[in-house]
Amino acid sequence: MIQLQSIKDIYKKKIPYKYDLMQKHMAGLKEKAVNGSVIKERDTVLVFCCGTGMEFSPLEERLGEGGKIIGVDFSEKMLEMAEKKIDQNNWQNIDLIYADVTQFDYSLHMKTKADAGICNLGFSIIPKYKDAFYNLTSSVRDGGEVIIGDMQLAQGPMAMFNPISIFLSRSFGGTFEGHKNTTNLYNLMKQELENTRKEEYMFKSYFIAYGKKASLFLNQTHFDKL
Ligand SMILES: C[S@@+](CC[C@H](N)C(=O)[O-])C[C@H]1O[C@@H](n2cnc3c(N)ncnc32)[C@H](O)[C@@H]1O
Repeated sequence: MIQLQSIKDIYKKKIPYKYDLMQKHMAGLKEKAVNGSVIKERDTVLVFCCGTGMEFSPLEERLGEGGKIIGVDFSEKMLEMAEKKIDQNNWQNIDLIYADVTQFDYSLHMKTKADAGICNLGFSIIPKYKDAFYNLTSSVRDGGEVIIGDMQLAQGPMAMFNPISIFLSRSFGGTFEGHKNTTNLYNLMKQELENTRKEEYMFKSYFIAYGKKASLFLNQTHFDKL
């Protein structure tokens, strides 16, 4: 079982200082998630589990100075690293929010809903990933885009690599259960969003999924039953 406290502990200690270095090989996938989206100049993008802000650079390129990024994370240390990155790059259009995404209520932090919501490598380490998905999607305007990049359990012949990918993701909080959750999450996206599509990378152990928020997106009560 993934434990919330153990995830908090991982991102409280040493990881934040070496995170970008450890994740260098994954930077291209975070860039792909942005490049494959319909995010455009001047949009507002909500970034769940933003960590040190590895998505900020490709997002800044896409949004330009007129756009806005709102990053949310529950690790003060990861947010400190993100703040440093923001200062170093002199980005003026990023707000960081310290919050648990499973309890995030956009109306407390944002005047209007975002044009897009993105989360890379977050859902697979969140025990209550359905709550986080509900909160992310609820924060996006009707017709806006939800983008999720994460580890998953590869299917078919590539499934033989699953134990390796789970092992390698352990230091970031990765587990078999978390990889399985994101497979369910994609089914949830297909059920709740429109025009859902998924790309697979790294021997199918990683996916990037996109979906459009439908105006009929359902309420929390419906989600609790899933
Ligand atoms: C693997 S890092 C991903 C960071 C960034 N999205 C990236 O791809 O580089 C996971 C991040 O999720 C954050 N996180 C995990 N569970 C969270 C939760 N329930 N609420 C807010 N942040 C959470 C951690 O603090 C950490 O910064």
